[in-house]
Amino acid sequence: FPVENIRNFSIIAHVDHGKSTLADRLLELTGTIDKTKNNKQVLDKLQVERERGITVKAQTASLFHNCEGKQYLLNLIDTPGHVDFSYEVSRSLSACQGVLLVVDANEGIQAQTVANFFLAFEAQLSVIPVINKIDLKNADPERVENQIEKVFDIPSDECIKISAKLGTNVESVLQAIIERIPPPKVHRKNPLRALVFDSTFDHYRGVIANVALFDGVVSKGDKIVSAHTQKIYEVNEVGVLNPNEQPTHKLYAGQVGYLIAGMKDVTEAQIGDTLHLHKQPVEPLPGFKSAKPMVFAGIYPVDQSEYNNLKSAIEKLTLNDSSVTVHRDSSLALGAGWRLGFLGLLHMEVFNQRLEQEYNASVILTTPTVPYKAVLSSSKLIKARRAVQKNMMFIDQNRVMLKYLFPLNEIVVDFYDSLKSLSSGYASFDYEDAGYQTAELVKMDILLNGNTVEELVTIVHKDKAHSIGKAMCERLKDCLPRQLFEIAIQASIGSKIIARETVKAYRKNVLAKCYGGDITRKMKLLKRQAEGKKKLRKIGNIEVPKDTFIKVLKTQ
Ligand code: GTP
Repeated sequence: FPVENIRNFSIIAHVDHGKSTLADRLLELTGTIDKTKNNKQVLDKLQVERERGITVKAQTASLFHNCEGKQYLLNLIDTPGHVDFSYEVSRSLSACQGVLLVVDANEGIQAQTVANFFLAFEAQLSVIPVINKIDLKNADPERVENQIEKVFDIPSDECIKISAKLGTNVESVLQAIIERIPPPKVHRKNPLRALVFDSTFDHYRGVIANVALFDGVVSKGDKIVSAHTQKIYEVNEVGVLNPNEQPTHKLYAGQVGYLIAGMKDVTEAQIGDTLHLHKQPVEPLPGFKSAKPMVFAGIYPVDQSEYNNLKSAIEKLTLNDSSVTVHRDSSLALGAGWRLGFLGLLHMEVFNQRLEQEYNASVILTTPTVPYKAVLSSSKLIKARRAVQKNMMFIDQNRVMLKYLFPLNEIVVDFYDSLKSLSSGYASFDYEDAGYQTAELVKMDILLNGNTVEELVTIVHKDKAHSIGKAMCERLKDCLPRQLFEIAIQASIGSKIIARETVKAYRKNVLAKCYGGDITRKMKLLKRQAEGKKKLRKIGNIEVPKDTFIKVLKTQ
């Protein structure tokens, strides 16, 4: 296929602005998929993606399109829309020369519109603004055009107004792709240089790496090397995605497709890695970094007898997602489990949902935490969430864009929900990593009658320790069953007690209901009480049911 007739592009958008719907229409218009079928988000393959309506893994499709007597190959690289996956977005973008920036005609520019635009802008891609959902009653495409001109400096007459749902004006999008996006700049005669921009795992065939070829050619039987791991593989199959895999003899520079080469798990085909021919090393493509987990949580089987099943489910899921880090962990209260690292909160929820849906696992997920580096005391500006304002810009009369520097632990738990409810759903939010910052953090212990409860040790900001400690003590008081003696629940920093609650003594007389008589019934009840105790964890002489930990850890 002549390089000048190839266009590589992505669709980027804020969540729900219609990226997948537009992709479906493009697939239909080019005859890639059958129009008669009720196509809904064909590229969203996972069940969670369909249910949540979000794209988790990037999917790719090659479309053929005739225009003025010439046949064009349009490679659509679908990118995940959510903040958690911005590294995947930026990698997918490096395989493209242009993007369709989809903006909802009613909602206008949102947080991820801005974040995604700048990823494309930094990668020096041609940006085609597409205003979608013009069929909506409240659509105001002119207002959105003005926003686009003001925020992105793109002349408003470059905007294409469409309804992806109804198919209105989608042909002009195809036309713009051909006219406004340049063909890839590649060298077919140079040695192979291929970017891995996604990878999936197939039980029968191993890892399927999605690749974009910058230089050279690759065919079945070639010996290739991963620039990152330096491992050598033999190529078993290459092909294009239509959107399902279709084997071809070769893949040429400028093309986007897939490659199977006996890689056993996705860590061998990391997103952003460069593949080259054995004995023909090339300069790796810039920008590679290993995915960096930002949010950590403990994961435990609800029932320890499920440990092995859960273990194999986690192994299988991580075969497909190398950005999840896994470490074995155990807790006296919750038993054997793992500490997993995720790119963000949504990533964690999606992983949990996939465990439940695809592997039928029932798990306890502890409150997420963020990575810290131990630093000695220093000062920092403090507000409710310890945020520092960096920038403010009015997008139009009704909408303002604010930029803040936040400690990550302030946004991982309930920030998004609070923001949505405070703004009645109008505000949107995106973040990027700004590196480690010094802060006055302290380790807070929770004590039961003077004994530390390891499971509940947390790191908190000095100024928030009192309120968090108080809330923890109150919650524990509500969840902890009364015992024969009084229990003091305390939160402490070092030797200083900062909060306290008391659980009064109480004796649960299991025999109360047996008016003396029936001895077998008495025995049965005593046995049941003894069994109940097995599930308890003793802290000092205090019995803490597993359930209490689950409640306290889950609702933090
Ligand atoms: P993510 O994959 O989460 O990024 O979402 P998306 O941007 O791919 O959005 P999607 O295509 O899933 O569309 C979101 C919702 O908007 C769906 O309910 C679509 O049916 C609806 N939608 C998409 N395009 C249009 C349109 O042109 N008009 C109307 N009225 N609704 C649309």
